[in-house]
Amino acid sequence: MRKKIVAANWKMNMTQAEAASFVETLLREIGDVSDVEVVIVPPFTAIAKVSEALGSSETIKIGAQNMYWERGGAFTGEISAAMLRDLFVRYVVLGHSERRQLLGETDQIVNRKVRVALDASLRPIVCVGETLEQRDRGEVERVLCQQLRGSLAEIGAKEMDDIVIAYEPVWAIGTGRTASAEQAQEAHSFIRHTLGEISDDATATKIRIQYGGSVKPDNARTLMSQPDIDGALVGGASLDPHSFAEIVRGARPRSSGPRRAVAAEP
Ligand code: 13P
Repeated sequence: MRKKIVAANWKMNMTQAEAASFVETLLREIGDVSDVEVVIVPPFTAIAKVSEALGSSETIKIGAQNMYWERGGAFTGEISAAMLRDLFVRYVVLGHSERRQLLGETDQIVNRKVRVALDASLRPIVCVGETLEQRDRGEVERVLCQQLRGSLAEIGAKEMDDIVIAYEPVWAIGTGRTASAEQAQEAHSFIRHTLGEISDDATATKIRIQYGGSVKPDNARTLMSQPDIDGALVGGASLDPHSFAEIVRGARPRSSGPRRAVAAEP
């Protein structure tokens, strides 16, 4: 059984003070949730503050939005895997479509970063997803296959256990236009099938695949109850701790949650 993983990708938002206040509220709301893995992915500048605000909480983990593929040296403006480890970062988002589109990140670059992240015991969240033009041309499977094979080249089956895939159709990001549960499930099922070809079926069954793209409290549960959707990578709705907490609750197994008081027998 794959444990659901819900991550808050804050993108280029949140000052240190805002981040601390967010964490304080989130801990109050879901600090005791243990059946969902929760990850906060702040900008680099707020990572230390989030870490401090989390204190000894083991429930919520920290991710980074990117990193460089070299270990250190003359790379002005870049951040290494070791620097992230130093700040207690456990996950790193790699190949987000905003970086692919705005900053020219290719599958080869993503692959180098995946290699270095794994070597540093960071868990990569590898983003894949098609544009609207590609979907309209019927190229969803070709694009996903190419991104997965390129980004995960030379990664061994054992190492794949530490990888999370995020399916984020570009046309659903920040647009309010969510993929339907059926569209998302179809893509996730294809991704799992492809992971099976890249590694093996047993490994593919264990890998968690998140959905991202206009996830909100009102669509989260339906999306995450699909058989191959193992969580969410949330952008806009993760900036408010109450709405993010609601999405996390939407990932919990149906039977969990606060027990209702049972009326005493007369
Ligand atoms: P939105 O939830 O704002 O659509 O962003 C999704 C995303 O890109 C998460 O990485």
